[in-house]
Amino acid sequence: MSSNLNQDKNKLHYEKLYANYNIKNILHWINNLDQFLASATTTETSWFALYQRNFREKIKGKKVLEMGCGDCVNAAVMAALGAEVYANDIADSSGKIVEALNEAYKFEFPIRFVSGDFLENDLESKQFDFVVGKAFLHHLELPVEEQFLKETARLLKEDGEARFFEPAVNSKLLDEFRWYVPVKNRPSKFHKTDFAEWKKNDPHPDRSFSSSHFEKAGRKFFTEVEIIPVGTLERFSRFFKWGAQKNNFKKWALKTETKLPRIINKPLTRSQLIIYKKPIF
Ligand SMILES: C[S@@+](CC[C@H](N)C(=O)[O-])C[C@H]1O[C@@H](n2cnc3c(N)ncnc32)[C@H](O)[C@@H]1O
Repeated sequence: MSSNLNQDKNKLHYEKLYANYNIKNILHWINNLDQFLASATTTETSWFALYQRNFREKIKGKKVLEMGCGDCVNAAVMAALGAEVYANDIADSSGKIVEALNEAYKFEFPIRFVSGDFLENDLESKQFDFVVGKAFLHHLELPVEEQFLKETARLLKEDGEARFFEPAVNSKLLDEFRWYVPVKNRPSKFHKTDFAEWKKNDPHPDRSFSSSHFEKAGRKFFTEVEIIPVGTLERFSRFFKWGAQKNNFKKWALKTETKLPRIINKPLTRSQLIIYKKPIF
């Protein structure tokens, strides 16, 4: 599939998902930031990953670019924490969410939406302290991802940092196995016709999500690359029903799995935090 086709598929999928989005929940969360972050960063893999190592404190007053901002929850949280946020998404409906948020909440710095194809932006070089993406890079085909990483390196200050939270597939066996386990909105590969129908509309290209891939891809544009596995034990939370028990398990799992040796954590992890520093430019 060509990049444009993949892009069109993503735009179509996410325009629909975020159309008529109600910002009520986001407003509730940013009006109760401490409570929201205390829960999200201890129970949800993406928030746990992105906000580790004092991210919350580090972004105050700093310039942050979020790629693939989607429903804009994270863009809003970062802005409410006092960051100057630029948010980009290929879906125009994300721009409408940003507009509504800026109207409804007095951010110190209103969120700026960078609309459309980010690679055609004319943002000034070396201006951002952070570039972040939450479940974003894996939506790009590899040549497009390479262009995004190059752009990330161009836009970051010399001492800036990029953080991407992405799924991880480091074991071929686990990867094959997971397609046979049905999850919400995704049929099992055992049901060939349903699976093929689902795949036709799925906005993820067939590509590598491995930690080694992200390590190699980052080394082209950054001197420092760090990949932190997240979700090795947390992945079993899917066997719990919604509720306190599930949350307690997630809390325990996310804390405990950081103590596992890398030889276990790397192949078995479900997702990863990718940190790139020292852009080569
Ligand atoms: C899985 S969603 C993640 C959204 C959000 N970051 C979150 O954590 O919920 C992926 C997002 O990437 C966006 N996206 C996909 N391809 C893109 C591209 N080429 N440029 C900008 N955004 C893109 C999609 O529109 C979608 O909002």
